[in-house]
Amino acid sequence: MRKPKFTGTVPQHIAIVMDGNGRWANARGLTRVEGHRAGEAALMDVIEGAIAAGVKYLTVFAFSTENWKRSPDEVKFLMNYNREVLRRRRDQLNEWGVRVRWAGRRPKLWPSVIDELLTAEKLTKKNKGLVFTMCVNYGARTELVDAINQMIEDKDSGKIKGSITDKTVQKYLLTRDLPDVDLFIRTSGEQRISNFLLWQSAYSEFVFSEVLWPDFGHKDLWQAIEAFSKRNRRFGKAEDKPKKSKGSAK
Ligand code: IPE
Ligand code: IPE
Ligand code: MG
Repeated sequence: MRKPKFTGTVPQHIAIVMDGNGRWANARGLTRVEGHRAGEAALMDVIEGAIAAGVKYLTVFAFSTENWKRSPDEVKFLMNYNREVLRRRRDQLNEWGVRVRWAGRRPKLWPSVIDELLTAEKLTKKNKGLVFTMCVNYGARTELVDAINQMIEDKDSGKIKGSITDKTVQKYLLTRDLPDVDLFIRTSGEQRISNFLLWQSAYSEFVFSEVLWPDFGHKDLWQAIEAFSKRNRRFGKAEDKPKKSKGSAK
């Protein structure tokens, strides 16, 4: 894959809500799970595109703590599917120098899926390339609630000394070793966060793409990066630059 050029800075950390698999399948007269199946190639293409673009961290939403509400058949398919994708793709990811990580909660998640996630983490832990975080059984509110409870416990036992700061909270999140999200992408035309990375995306730039996830590829990713690279991030600061009118002095 060629190395793309962008107008401005490439985001260090990109997060993606990979959405629209079900609609993609149903529109073709297929069942929802066929859409998930078609999403695998999109994911690999996007990972390759992120590496080519020089992105350091890519974090994707694969299964939310709310997705258990889906039909038992779809949930079962998604569990098996996450496990299979990891098994099928881990060597390729390893060859690309990708470090795989898992962010999510253990309760309810199938032990065989956890095993596969931990195997991929172990296999790729020394890699120095793209840090690829798969959010499986992830929900931002439970992540924060878990963090708060753990902080209270550690405060009571004296493990936390002094008051709790931004930095303390960061250390208790599932993404403790990741920087803030620079670019937050959601596919399929939906414009919502759906409980993904609330703390981490406080100052993210958002790009909402109409493309359904199975049709999303490295070119769409690069388009989103290009849009990001032209944005003016202020983080609360301001610049005073009155526009010069035609007749003005100088
Ligand atoms: C995203 O696609 C994949 C998961 C949530 C696992 P959806 O399955 O949500 O597809 P739509 O949004 O129903 O089209
Ligand atoms: C968010 O998508 C979760 C994942 C992509 C894994 P959903 O399709 O579950 O979100 P809602 O229900 O449309 O908000
Ligand atoms: Mg959806």
